[in-house]
Amino acid sequence: MHHMSDDLHEPSENRAKRQRVVEGIDHTKPSVARVYDYLLGGKDNYAVDQRVASMLLQLAPDAPEAARANRQFLGRVVRHLAVNAGITQFIDIGSGLPTRGNVHEIAQSVLPEARVIYIDNDPTVLAHGRALLAKTLGTAVVDCDLREPETLLHDSQATGLVDLSKPVGMLLFGILHHLNDHERPEVIAAGLRDALPSGSHFALSHFCNPGAAHPEVAEHARAAERVFNQRLGTGRWRSREEILAYFGDWELLSPGLVPLSEWRPAPSDDTRQSITYHDFVGGVARRP
Ligand SMILES: C[S@@+](CC[C@H](N)C(=O)[O-])C[C@H]1O[C@@H](n2cnc3c(N)ncnc32)[C@H](O)[C@@H]1O
Repeated sequence: MHHMSDDLHEPSENRAKRQRVVEGIDHTKPSVARVYDYLLGGKDNYAVDQRVASMLLQLAPDAPEAARANRQFLGRVVRHLAVNAGITQFIDIGSGLPTRGNVHEIAQSVLPEARVIYIDNDPTVLAHGRALLAKTLGTAVVDCDLREPETLLHDSQATGLVDLSKPVGMLLFGILHHLNDHERPEVIAAGLRDALPSGSHFALSHFCNPGAAHPEVAEHARAAERVFNQRLGTGRWRSREEILAYFGDWELLSPGLVPLSEWRPAPSDDTRQSITYHDFVGGVARRP
């Protein structure tokens, strides 16, 4: 129960911080997390996000399908890690707004003791995440920025839920493409990999510009990149080589870095399986 008098006893720096977090939700600027939520059919978004989403939909009418393909890829990867790869602890970086099939729901359905750290830097995600997860055992929502990997690892460990000396499933779905080149995502990815022990897994999905292999897709990717950067300030469709580099020298599991729907498809997927998006790819690698 929260009393007025509690505020009086709360240290002023804590109070200031708490207010910043609440005020951090900005209804006037679109957010990547909320635009994505809108594409997935969620309700945690505002008019400003819907306007950006409509612009994207004009350019890419199948964006909602691609978003769903990404969630289904995530589901297959988490299930594989929990059932076949001995992973009991996950760090989901850029976890996004809660949706159908969150990582802990998938992992704990096959492995009840699974623990999941959700990391994001968007105040809307943090508020909704905490509301949803307050009573869920084995999960935590941590306010961190991928661009500060050391803090991210430290704060994950500090939850007491994960032990970074044991194998970790590190999940980076739809986030590395929101780092610009000058932020050195390849250095950040290497820092995260190096902190994890043998048997850990690194899974990611990423916008891809397939170049000469698919010239029409490449042109489309460049157009989408422009809209993302103008409206959201981020978005990089990288080459296969650039994306493969995020796995370093870890062992890439079969079938490798592929369009999302081609990574170990499952009969339960409800995406139209005929669609292969060469501009959105994913893969999983294991530290030997
Ligand atoms: C497109 S959503 C992906 C959500 C989910 N991982 C998925 O694939 O379905 C990208 C998420 O990354 C978060 N994000 C973007 N840049 C970030 C950063 N530098 N640090 C932490 N989170 C970030 C956004 O707030 C958003 O929730």
